[in-house]
Amino acid sequence: MVTPQPVGTKLTQAAIFLVATLSESVSINAQIRDLLGDLSSLVRGVGFRVPDGRLSCITGIGSHAWDQLFGTPRPRDLHPFQEIRGVHHAPATPGDLLFHIRATRMDLCFELAAAIVSRLEGAGEIVDEVHGFKYFDERDLLGFVDGTENPTGQPALDAAIVGDEDPAFIGGSYVIVQKYLHDLKKWDAIPTEVQEHIIGRRKVSDIELADAAKPSYAHNVLTNIEENGQQLQIVRDNMPFGEVRKGEFGTYFIGYARSPARTEQMLRNMFVGKPPGNYDRLLDVSTAVTGALFFIPTGEFLDGAPD
Ligand code: HEM
Repeated sequence: MVTPQPVGTKLTQAAIFLVATLSESVSINAQIRDLLGDLSSLVRGVGFRVPDGRLSCITGIGSHAWDQLFGTPRPRDLHPFQEIRGVHHAPATPGDLLFHIRATRMDLCFELAAAIVSRLEGAGEIVDEVHGFKYFDERDLLGFVDGTENPTGQPALDAAIVGDEDPAFIGGSYVIVQKYLHDLKKWDAIPTEVQEHIIGRRKVSDIELADAAKPSYAHNVLTNIEENGQQLQIVRDNMPFGEVRKGEFGTYFIGYARSPARTEQMLRNMFVGKPPGNYDRLLDVSTAVTGALFFIPTGEFLDGAPD
């Protein structure tokens, strides 16, 4: 019996995304394994104070950190995020650990994030911290409803959780994160009807455009991928974030899948184009500034992370 981390959990109003790098010395391994082993208890301790707060934390481990902390066996498809140079650029940026903290309230996320950071002291540093919020009617800061076609329930687990294809890591998952910054002035200058063609849905009503009305470069055409006639899905929980002082408006993309190949294929379709050159016009106004890939082991693996 294995317990996947709460990948398929109901989406929440608040999230904090922490990406950390670790010191390369093996002397920190025991401290990090202790932290991983204590995470479920930290979540219980913080979360119990607000019973309906639905606090959760998903912890991911990057390829290099996996070798340092656990060696073999390795999750079959774990590798560093591969940058993509197409019409647009998807950079690869450092990341050994990911903490995806979610709750209905930011105070819960903040409290847990602070506890995690204090346990990393001397062993690693946070290289990226994003506080995400839900925006009106589940919209991104481009004004479109984001998440509509996300699978839920069993289809979400089928899309995101590793099965028999990697027997030693059944119940795990893979995640790719990317931080996108939007040029809202440029986006707002695009007529709504053209924006709708870029996304493939109506802006106000969120109704999907008819297939015949979608351009071949629509976001929901390029990210709709198939194998043997079956759609290959991922589980997303994108969050808006920003800082008005800096004029910063962003989307934190997070996509879980039972194999990173799914998300990587979607990314190639978006950045290189399908066929090459037929790229995602969303990228003319949205710049990816980070990119990292992590494996999400089971709860039992984290709890038992040996010293
Ligand atoms: C759909 C926004 C990046 C994969 C959508 C939708 C919106 C959206 C508004 C339509 C509603 C929905 O079904 O959720 C964004 C924004 C992004 C972004 C603002 C970043 C700037 C990505 C990336 C991927 C991705 C990087 C994958 C690598 C998908 C998928 C769908 C989708 C699979 C559902 C397509 C379908 O089957 O209809 N996105 N997205 N998105 N997006 Fe994105």
